[in-house]
Parts: sequence; C-alpha cells; structure tokens
Amino acid sequence: MRKKIVAGNWKMNKTFDEAKALMNELKTKLNNDTSEIVEVVVCPPFLCIPAAKDEFAGTSVRYGGQNIHFKDDGAFTGEISASMLKAVGCEYVILGHSERRQYFHETNHLINFKVIKALEKGLKPILCVGETLEQREQGIEKKIVDEQVTLCLKDINAAGMDNVVIAYEPVWAIGTGKTATPQQAEEMHIEIRKSLENLYNATIAGRTRILYGGSMNDKNAKELLGMSNIDGGLIGGAALKADSFITIIEAAK
Ligand code: 13P
Repeated sequence: MRKKIVAGNWKMNKTFDEAKALMNELKTKLNNDTSEIVEVVVCPPFLCIPAAKDEFAGTSVRYGGQNIHFKDDGAFTGEISASMLKAVGCEYVILGHSERRQYFHETNHLINFKVIKALEKGLKPILCVGETLEQREQGIEKKIVDEQVTLCLKDINAAGMDNVVIAYEPVWAIGTGKTATPQQAEEMHIEIRKSLENLYNATIAGRTRILYGGSMNDKNAKELLGMSNIDGGLIGGAALKADSFITIIEAAK
C-alpha cells in the first residue's frame, strides 16, 4: 500500500511573513489529523524554510526545498546545498522541475547528480518528469518520460529508491489550468512503473510513489487522486491558499 503524498510547491511566491501566515493557517486548519493517511509536504522558497521549521514543529507536516546544488559546498554563489536543507529539518527536495529544466537549462545528467547528492545527504528527492506539448503532439511523450526517469535515476540503487518519489508533471498542464485527464495521467503513471520495473524490479515499481502535478486543484483533485496509479499530487497555484490545499489533502484520503 502506497501512502499518498500531497506536496505544495510554492515556487517563487510569498515573503517570509506571508509564508509564516499561510503555514500557520494550514497548521491550524489541518489540526494534525492527516499523518496516518496522507503525507503533507510544503516546499516554500529557501528563505521561508526556517518558518516551516517553527510552524510545523510537533506536527506531521513535512517540508522541503525546491532545488539543491549537486556539490557538497564551495564557491557556488547563490546556491544552496543538500546539507543546508537537511540541517534546517527538510525531509524532501523537489528536483528536475520543468521550470528549472526550461529556464535554468537543467539537463537529465545534472538532475541525476542532484538526486545522488540529495540521497547521500538524507533528503528524499521528488523527481519531476514530464513532456512538453510539442513532444506530446509528436507522440513521443512516453519515450521522453522514460528517458528522463532512466537518466535521472542513473546509479541510484534499489535501496535508494525507497526514498525517491516521482512526480509526473506534463509541462503543458503546469500553471495553464489545462489538467491532464485522469486517464492521460494514469496511462503515463503506468508507463513510469514499467520504466521502474525495467530499471529495478516489479517490487520497486509497485512501491514507488508517483505524484501527478499540473493544474491540480480543489475541483479536479478527487478524480485524479482516485486513479489507482496516482499516489498524490504536487501542487503549485492551489497550494498558495490554505483552503484549496486542504481540500486536495481531503480528496487524497
Ligand atoms: P500548478 O499546480 O500551478 O499548475 O503547478 C504545478 C507544478 O508545477 C507543481 O510543481
């Protein structure tokens, strides 16, 4: 049985005070009643992670970063290391998000280094994969996603996979209000399990959690999360309002 995850990717939104207020509202409204059934994860901007440490102390809400550098430390101006996130209590880190691939030219090869470093430092990567609209129109979406999964997980062994979560986020569905249909998402999640079975084995393919991301909201979450291979959501816009995020968590139960 795969425990569902509902994770909020706040992207570059919220100042420290705004973040603290939203976290506090979430904590109060959640009333710590989700831990057994759904894992709730909040990934705010780096600066707001100390607020998450404060606000979520003693609750079941976990938190994480949205990126790391693949080196331990050193002269990398503007970057954040895995150890830094770990030291402030992060459990998760989002890696390979399509916005990082698109705007910061992150390649599968680079993302693979980051996955390796995250695991080495005790962070659980939420590895994002997904095709562009152009790739889907060309009918190569499965090939693209299989390639992303395979290359980003290079040199990750079976034991490492216990701590890896995959998020399928079709690029054309992110921030566009255009969600993949539950059938489209389910079909790709099954493909991702096939890729994992080829890379590892059926047990690992069967127990890896695969989240859907891309315009998931309080209206469409129930149907998407009702599909048997969708193990949760990675939520952007709808994670910025406590009530819609909580409705999605409820839908995951
Ligand atoms: P939206 O939910 O805003 O479409 O963003 C999805 C996403 O990119 C989560 O990582």
